[in-house]
Amino acid sequence: MVALVLVLVVRVQRRARWDPRTCPTDLRGKTAIVTGANTGIGFHVALDLARRGARVILACRCPVRGGAARDRIRIQSGNHQVQLRTVDLGSMESIRQFAQNIIKEEPELHLLVNNAGASGLPQKMTEDGFDLMFATNHLGPFHLTNLLLDLLKLSAPSKIVIVASSNHHNGTVDFRHFRGESLVYHADYVYNHTKLHNVMWSRQLAKRLEGTGVCVNSVHPGYVMTEVLRNYPLYIKVIVNMIGFFFFKSSEEGAVAPLYCAVSEEMDGVTGKYVDSDCSLALPSATARDDTLGREGFETCAKLTSNKLSANL
Ligand SMILES: *[C@@H]1O[C@H](CO)[C@@H](O)[C@H](O)[C@H]1NC(C)=O
Ligand SMILES: *[C@@H]1O[C@H](CO)[C@@H](O)[C@H](O)[C@H]1NC(C)=O
Repeated sequence: MVALVLVLVVRVQRRARWDPRTCPTDLRGKTAIVTGANTGIGFHVALDLARRGARVILACRCPVRGGAARDRIRIQSGNHQVQLRTVDLGSMESIRQFAQNIIKEEPELHLLVNNAGASGLPQKMTEDGFDLMFATNHLGPFHLTNLLLDLLKLSAPSKIVIVASSNHHNGTVDFRHFRGESLVYHADYVYNHTKLHNVMWSRQLAKRLEGTGVCVNSVHPGYVMTEVLRNYPLYIKVIVNMIGFFFFKSSEEGAVAPLYCAVSEEMDGVTGKYVDSDCSLALPSATARDDTLGREGFETCAKLTSNKLSANL
């Protein structure tokens, strides 16, 4: 009983220092893209942006689940400017088509939330010959962001939010892994690796975007019970969900720190930072701050996506 009370206290005390419900930012006339918005953190980020009046484009892989999310967000926010566009972040061609349509049809883009990510995937190669988790969590978002950079610059001040994780502290930089060439495959290892690359990338991108009015920050949303567990076996889901009720955040709580980066006035003009789950600026790992590695990662990814735009950065 005492333990239960203590646990409940712990749960209550984990509040962030910023609350989206008291943040007055109005987004009418602004356009936002949220990847992986059909569920979890992405869904709640998109819902909050829609409530603020933004035109919100849900970038999801599955048309059925994405469509259901779009309908729920429209109903819950009363905002009918919520659209679904499908994209598979594991496919460079799908990303190119998605970005091409956005550039053709949207005159402006003020906010890009790179939220989509996967964990626990078995080793698999994408059609482009990349490790699937690496492509989904890092290379795909990297490619997408580069293709949308001109539009973001044109619409400045604009913001890019990259959902990373404090797991990046345990990540190892391993360029062999981009094409799945590491000798060992361990889902946890790859996940941590992709999140480290996300933090390094956000810092490099911020440097390259200095003076453009486009801000880029990465964020640790906290440990959230969401669909990130989707690819794990049922028994792991059950165990994690039981423990998780007390120690993990709900997806709504997990959306708070990404929303802090996206809509809080405190983050206006702030770029190249790493935001912790309590909505404070934090120092990422020493590896994440290594600019030589960061540049190498950035240039390698730019070559892999053979994206002229990023090569010019
Ligand atoms: C990945 O990161 C988590 C949390 O930071 C850590 O507990 C885990 O041991 C790491 N896994 C590997 C294989 O490094
Ligand atoms: C994960 O990182 C933390 C913080 O740097 C460290 O204390 C811990 O030993 C690491 N765990 C693993 C499994 O590497």
